[in-house]
Amino acid sequence: MSTPADTAWQRLEELGTISDSPEHLVRTFLSPANLAAARTVIGWMDGIGMHCDHAADGTVRGILDGADPEAPPLLLGSHLDTVINAGKYDGALGIVTAIAALETLRREEITLPFPVHVLGFSDEEGVRFHATYLGSRGIAGTLDGTAMEITDVSGKSLCHAIDSEGWHEGASTILYQPGKVRGYVEVHIEQGRVLEEAGEALCAVSAIAGQTRVMARMSGRADHAGTTPMPLRRDALAGAAECIVAIESIARSSDPLVATVGRIEVLPGASNSVPSSAAFTIDIRHPEDAARVSAVAEIQNTCAAVASHRGLVFEWNIVQETDAVPCDPVLTESLCKATGNPRLLASGAGHDGVAVSAIAPIAMIFVRCRGGLSHHPDEFASQEDVAASVDALVRFLKTLATSDHA
Ligand code: GLV
Ligand code: MN
Ligand code: MN
Repeated sequence: MSTPADTAWQRLEELGTISDSPEHLVRTFLSPANLAAARTVIGWMDGIGMHCDHAADGTVRGILDGADPEAPPLLLGSHLDTVINAGKYDGALGIVTAIAALETLRREEITLPFPVHVLGFSDEEGVRFHATYLGSRGIAGTLDGTAMEITDVSGKSLCHAIDSEGWHEGASTILYQPGKVRGYVEVHIEQGRVLEEAGEALCAVSAIAGQTRVMARMSGRADHAGTTPMPLRRDALAGAAECIVAIESIARSSDPLVATVGRIEVLPGASNSVPSSAAFTIDIRHPEDAARVSAVAEIQNTCAAVASHRGLVFEWNIVQETDAVPCDPVLTESLCKATGNPRLLASGAGHDGVAVSAIAPIAMIFVRCRGGLSHHPDEFASQEDVAASVDALVRFLKTLATSDHA
């Protein structure tokens, strides 16, 4: 019989084939593939006797009863969605390893004193709405009215998208109250090179960096590309290009600040028209919140100056801003013991724990990934390291169970 860790490995491959594109892996909020992945994960959790439900936005949950069904549950999991042209491990790893750890306990006939809920979040990457953690903010009750009004590139609001495209049949409200949850623990690939260079498979995480996501737009005037002399143009795309290079240069001179323009939409989008509008995303991160906030102001002022110099109109809309979130010291200490590694790494990437921290203490295990590569189809974690993370999670759960009896 194959081990639960072997099954987790096969499931990473299986989830890696559930995609909205035949060319590459992509699953975004409410897309057919994201909902198909959600159903697949429910099938796996159902298969080990968990009680399963799902929310209309495509977040799924499996509940493993504990000896005391009223005890605050421990949450495990990660996100179902991916970036465009993604690897197979970012997100999926935290879901399949959580299920494997619970299957291991089931085979050993161990009942934990508290319930464990495995969550597969509908959105963490924020590809569709450029705002992240939609699934985990949903279960934490922090998607307020303003957040529900954000729009995707077609102008559809989040609220309307859930109404018209959501998984409504049999849907439940999955919502946790602050203080009623024991903790949230997520296994995730490191997405960096520290573990690989240190020759270590796993470690715990100290904190998750904050980030600011902005939708910016330069507006000028559409004109004929053949007849409009250069000095008379108000070219929105040329203005955006100047901003993008300036943003890169601000970040390059302020290490460890990172700033990325990852998407741009140009109107009218014809080779023979001067662009009238260029809307672009900006993702700005720094381990220290004050430094990030000051970089955001500098970038905004720089873009406004470019617009003014070129006779363009500049719009700036912060669609999401999260502060750095520290991991819980008690859970983290226990994860250090479970991984056998005292090293703590800070995460520059965002994770669902940021949103879940509104209701519960959070902690994470990082798994070594090849070359530190992530958000890329060559993303890779070895089968041995995936198995080691399942073992660490099992050790962690057993310790938590014992501490309840102490
Ligand atoms: C998620 O991977 C993020 O950090 O953007
Ligand atoms: Mn992730
Ligand atoms: Mn990611």
